[in-house]
Amino acid sequence: MVNIEIDGKQLEVTEGAMVIEAADDADIYIPRFCYHKKLSIAANCRMCLIDVEKVGKALPACATPVTDGMKISTRSEKAIEAQKSVMEFLLINHPLDCPICDQGGECELQDIAMGYGGDVSIYSEQKRVVENKDFGPLISGDMTRCIHCTRCVRFGEEVAGIKELGATGRGEHMEIGTYVQLSLNSEMSGNVIDLCPVGALTAKPSRFTARAWEMVQHESIAPHDCMGSNILLHTFRNQVVRVVPKENEEINETWLADRDRFSYEGLNSDERLTVPMVKTDGQWQEVDWDTALQKAVGGISKLLSEQGGEQLGAIASPNMTIEELFLLQKMMRSVGSGNIDHRIGQIDFTDQDDEPVFPWLGQSIVDLENNDAVLLVGCNARHDQPIAGHRIRKAELAGARIMAVNPVDYDFNFSLAAKKIASPAKLLQELGGILKALAATSNVTLPLST
Ligand code: SF4
Ligand code: FES
Repeated sequence: MVNIEIDGKQLEVTEGAMVIEAADDADIYIPRFCYHKKLSIAANCRMCLIDVEKVGKALPACATPVTDGMKISTRSEKAIEAQKSVMEFLLINHPLDCPICDQGGECELQDIAMGYGGDVSIYSEQKRVVENKDFGPLISGDMTRCIHCTRCVRFGEEVAGIKELGATGRGEHMEIGTYVQLSLNSEMSGNVIDLCPVGALTAKPSRFTARAWEMVQHESIAPHDCMGSNILLHTFRNQVVRVVPKENEEINETWLADRDRFSYEGLNSDERLTVPMVKTDGQWQEVDWDTALQKAVGGISKLLSEQGGEQLGAIASPNMTIEELFLLQKMMRSVGSGNIDHRIGQIDFTDQDDEPVFPWLGQSIVDLENNDAVLLVGCNARHDQPIAGHRIRKAELAGARIMAVNPVDYDFNFSLAAKKIASPAKLLQELGGILKALAATSNVTLPLST
């Protein structure tokens, strides 16, 4: 630990930490664009310039490690002057199109410009214009607004594990793009929308739907990635119009899989059943909830009185919430039925007595990235559970050996130390072989011979 001072506040911080991290931990605000706590340090925007005692020029807080006795000012005349100068440079080319930009009202550049931007610019030259890019159906690319912070590029390289975005050209000719006009294919691609500090990368499906201040935010849990990622639903006139991640270090960190970010569109599908329907004379008729519930109560009561509760069964979706499942079992048990199941995709129940009542991973999601070795069986973690896949990738980057027994030679975003590709019918046999080899090397006698 080292002792430093920021804006007169005495702090004890971890040696080697960057000034911006120490300031964030102490709730001292330093403006920034390229810095993001989950990405490597690029130090290319210079918005975080600070004044360090006995140092002639202003230094970037995101790339300056703390040293014992350091005295830093984020608000001195020198620091503010440096920050304002950077803002002026950024605004030379950034289009002032906030009224028609989808990011307006929740734009980091707009916010910081309020504090550090001038109302008059000395630059009268024409602004740079960059052709818009087509990144596919999910992400809109208005690249004239790009400030070259490279957060999106670093996300691809460091988190998604696919180098899809990159910078070409230099200086004023630098452009962010996919090199060869491709759409973004990562299953976590939508995260670049949150990372982009300006309106260069915005969500295509929710574009021009509502302004940030018109939406109402609701906390929720992602229904599609099987991980319980924390999300925020944004509603406009009682309709979900956007989904963004809610930070939870134990589960999804700051990320969200595309399926959970964009699947809300299904809620608004015309083909979705949104009102109860009852079949009358062979035809489905829309009815109100009271009528539908009375009909259900009538049918269940008739069955109960004629055949008893044992003849009644309920199959619940495993996607239901614990509260919903609890209420369902309570209702079923109160009418004398224990026939409740959630295994809607299972057809063979012969070994159900040996199965755990509550199957789980066996370790926390965070611990996935601390494993020394991971064996993937019949799964493409990157596509099946992108958030778990991300943790496994982190483990591999930290030196873990990832192995797979799969029916398909999947294209993972991490490298495999070993793999066995076999037809689905042979998977069990392959696993038996691995078990046998493991038992032999660890001198364990298996209960059954294979
Ligand atoms: S597109 Fe956005 S995130 Fe990417 S470099 Fe430009 S400003 Fe940064
Ligand atoms: S945030 Fe430090 S240089 Fe960009």
